Amino acid sequence: MTTKTGHQGDTGPEQIVPSEADRVLIFDTTLRDGEQCPGATMTFEEKLEVADCLDQMGVDIIEAGFPIASEGDFEAVSAIARRVKRASVAGLARAGEKDIDRAGEAVKHAVKPRIHTFISTSPVHMKFKLQKEPEEVLELVTRQCQRARNWVDDVEWSAEDATRTEHDYLCRCVEAAIKAGATTINIPDTVGYTVPEEYFALITMLRERVPNSDKAIFSTHCHNDLGMAVANSLAGVKAGARQIECTINGIGERAGNAALEEIVMAMKTRQDVLPYASGIDTTLLARASRLVSAVTNFPVQYNKAIVGRNAFAHESGIHQDGMLKHTQTYEIMTPESVGVGKTSLVMGKHSGRNAFRSKLKELGYELGDNQFEDAFNRFKALADRKKHVYDEDIEALVDEGIAHMHDRTKVVALTVIAGTMGPQAATLTLDIEGKQHTVQATGNGPVDATFNAIKELMPHNGRLALYQVHAVTEGTDAQAEVSVRLDEDGRAVTGRGADTDTLVASARAYVAAVNKLMVKRQKTTAAQSAI
Ligand code: KIV
Ligand code: ZN
Repeated sequence: MTTKTGHQGDTGPEQIVPSEADRVLIFDTTLRDGEQCPGATMTFEEKLEVADCLDQMGVDIIEAGFPIASEGDFEAVSAIARRVKRASVAGLARAGEKDIDRAGEAVKHAVKPRIHTFISTSPVHMKFKLQKEPEEVLELVTRQCQRARNWVDDVEWSAEDATRTEHDYLCRCVEAAIKAGATTINIPDTVGYTVPEEYFALITMLRERVPNSDKAIFSTHCHNDLGMAVANSLAGVKAGARQIECTINGIGERAGNAALEEIVMAMKTRQDVLPYASGIDTTLLARASRLVSAVTNFPVQYNKAIVGRNAFAHESGIHQDGMLKHTQTYEIMTPESVGVGKTSLVMGKHSGRNAFRSKLKELGYELGDNQFEDAFNRFKALADRKKHVYDEDIEALVDEGIAHMHDRTKVVALTVIAGTMGPQAATLTLDIEGKQHTVQATGNGPVDATFNAIKELMPHNGRLALYQVHAVTEGTDAQAEVSVRLDEDGRAVTGRGADTDTLVASARAYVAAVNKLMVKRQKTTAAQSAI
């Protein structure tokens, strides 16, 4: 059901305009499945920020969290439900009544509330995880959907581990869920096990065999353990699914979920073979990617499709020559179409507020007054220290501000003695909830001394699992962006910091990670580990 127009696309000879029947709903679960993965904890304020960005971008359904998991999750889902104006807001719930009621409470103020309830249906999950017989689970399917329908009209039911579920049994569960009021049926590839042909056949089979299948929208939810999450999701859509569950940058449990930006751009770029449409404003993809990377402190790999820093870079002579002759020689979509601008020399220390404001707008940032003032002051400080301030510098600076805006503890001052004559030593002042504390420490190198000083003021048992530095731009005066990962009692958190001084950036990253450890400690992990 597509119409061809004579309009020239980016690369293809014809633009195919999908009809309503080919519209695919984008269900973003960055704030739930994404946040659930080790190290990606977001604070309350960060979650609101991501939700705003997703809503602005045109996501159809925002899965805001798992309300029963903790008080913090409940508060975040509830605040997002009240705040989001356009998208549906979903809360996740297991089959238990308490779970569903908590999710119902959390989403009830949304303009378009949804409860997403799930239960495992594969033999291995039912036997070992749930320790229930298939008939008991089938009964729960009916009960969970009915209970959710008492709260909202929009109920999504998921068969966890669907791709390893016996087909006859899965058909019975799906039929029962629809009969009990589910309006969306999600078929998760929970362990990232399926392949495109198999997933296509599974969705086709369900749509053909389940008698009431026409009463619900089928949805994909594919994990990336074998690197096929996006391909599997698109195969599901080819088989008739009309909702895709995905996350920004593909973050999520283990190897992650299908990446939203890849799905949306695949559909947009290959209309000839994927004649489907999403409602996403693709020019906001790069911005969303940067924001999620900043708040989760998960770096985006350089060669990541669509949003990696090399995704539009052409290094080899042959490629550069081709690009100069005609961009379509090596470019299947334009950087502008995903919101990537050309690297440009921006401003210096004489640039004023207005110039800075319009640069932020050009880069896709919308900051509140306080955030703007903070970013502008830090821009001025950076311009004093750095000759050329590039777009990437401004992005790192603003993202850094967003990531640390609500930190309980902040780095105030750091002096380090480094060099060949050890021991190296650090003198550090931290602002801890409004009070300044100074400490001195030594270590085996300047980074170790700095981290030891932080540990004295912020005691914890976290093990340093990763310490990574990269330069934001070229030049010896480039800002260093440092990522630090800490593991404490099975809890993993990452922190990131940026500064022209690598040691200051390291201190900020380490403090950010410990701040996140505190947030994570407050969460009850029991409910989450059950997913
Ligand atoms: O991967 C999965 O099965 C899930 C469900 C809760 C939908 O995340
Ligand atoms: Zn999942």
